[in-house]
Amino acid sequence: MTNDSTAPLVVGLAGCGTVGSGLLRVLAENGDLIRERTGRDIRIKSVLVRNPSRVRAAPLPEGARLVTDAALLTDDPETDVVVELMGGIDAPRILIDRALEHGKHIVTANKALLAEDGAGLFRKAAEKGLALLYEASVAGGIPIVQTLKESLAGNRIRSLVGILNGTSNYILSEMTSNGLDFETALAQAQEQGFAEADPTLDIDGHDAAHKLVLLIRLAYGVEYPYAELPIQGIRGLSELDINFAREFGYRIKLLGQVNEVDGRLEAGVFPTLVRHTFLLARVGGAYNAVRVEGNAVGSLFLHGRGAGDLPTASAVMGDLLAVARGARPNNTGFVRQVPERARILPPEEARSCYYVRVMVRDAPGVLRDLAGAMAAEGISLAQIIQKPEERCGVPLVFMTHEASARAMDAALRQAADAGLLRTPAVYYRILG
Ligand code: NAP
Ligand code: HSE
Repeated sequence: MTNDSTAPLVVGLAGCGTVGSGLLRVLAENGDLIRERTGRDIRIKSVLVRNPSRVRAAPLPEGARLVTDAALLTDDPETDVVVELMGGIDAPRILIDRALEHGKHIVTANKALLAEDGAGLFRKAAEKGLALLYEASVAGGIPIVQTLKESLAGNRIRSLVGILNGTSNYILSEMTSNGLDFETALAQAQEQGFAEADPTLDIDGHDAAHKLVLLIRLAYGVEYPYAELPIQGIRGLSELDINFAREFGYRIKLLGQVNEVDGRLEAGVFPTLVRHTFLLARVGGAYNAVRVEGNAVGSLFLHGRGAGDLPTASAVMGDLLAVARGARPNNTGFVRQVPERARILPPEEARSCYYVRVMVRDAPGVLRDLAGAMAAEGISLAQIIQKPEERCGVPLVFMTHEASARAMDAALRQAADAGLLRTPAVYYRILG
């Protein structure tokens, strides 16, 4: 490791899959630019993989060695930075911890690790005065981490809502616009390198939730414990609901969102109906977008590729260049490196308008009784449509005025207990 600010920055790259190979390609194509911007070359010394005989999507740079022993990166005196692009939690945590112990700066795209188990790593990086940068971990190529840490640092963030998972957005877009079924769309997202190694992280909402936890830290400087975040993914989302939502003038999107409500945070990941005229409704394919509301800046909308080799590598490059410039580390955006616990609004108190679909018998009094169950919880209906008979009954679809999650649960439980529903009710929030 050198303190010479013109010497090449020596990098140990852990992981050479979709993003790692993307990084090697960007380095090969933009090396001259990097020199112009930082006055330094970036030299990849070691590339850590599991299976060295696997064919790589990008050639190794001249002089780089393929290794299977993590210590050749973490303990190497010549290496300045370890770039972690392996994925998972345990192996990368051990690798990063050891690399920090040996004085290496860290660049990572690993939102799962940082959201679920990042506290000790941030503490250690701060103690050692090292960079722990993670722009690529949220929303692929969109520079939202830097935006919250630096550009919007003078704002109180009122709300943040985003399409944070490219795979889910790709699946929903393909189902909505091209009539693809869920499984085919997921297989395509996997082929294109958008999905996690374990794609249940994508479709069950966990990947978006990991990113939301990181955004909450960056925006509010507090910890919303991952295990307490309400999370609902898109698994099992039916074409029926996509089509009914369209009829009402909405698109269904998987959104991660946080609002400040009387000093407490209301947050979660949910499939949500978004009015078709909103910019968020128009975000297609594997693109991501984040809408941030700051008390000084007003509303900001960032849009771009949320997954894939080159967009994600672009974000990794930004972090590597920051290390190459030798800037004083600003890892969390706050002086406090390990944030306090967030004051959390209990999820059942969250208020929203709702889309509800129930399958009922086509019989007199059913609509009256259902409306009665809603009214008993103080929920008023805004629009309602009844569709022709399907296999499991008649779909009755309605939109409500604002109600609490607790009231909606109670009303639908009451309707089910009264024998009004042929299948469990399906209901989604509507973005206000
Ligand atoms: P990937 O294609 O599965 O590549 C993972 C790489 O890490 C492979 O080269 C693998 O080696 C290596 N690896 C995994 N575990 C290892 C271990 N224990 N020891 C040594 N090497 C190991 O994954 P990816 O899509 O590039 O994603 C990497 C990270 O970036 C993940 O944290 C992911 O969440 C994040 N990310 C991905 C995207 C995206 O669009 N793909 C976007 C943003 C962030 P082998 O090749 O030998 O198997
Ligand atoms: N699997 C993730 C996604 C990769 O689909 O958004 C980008 O973080």
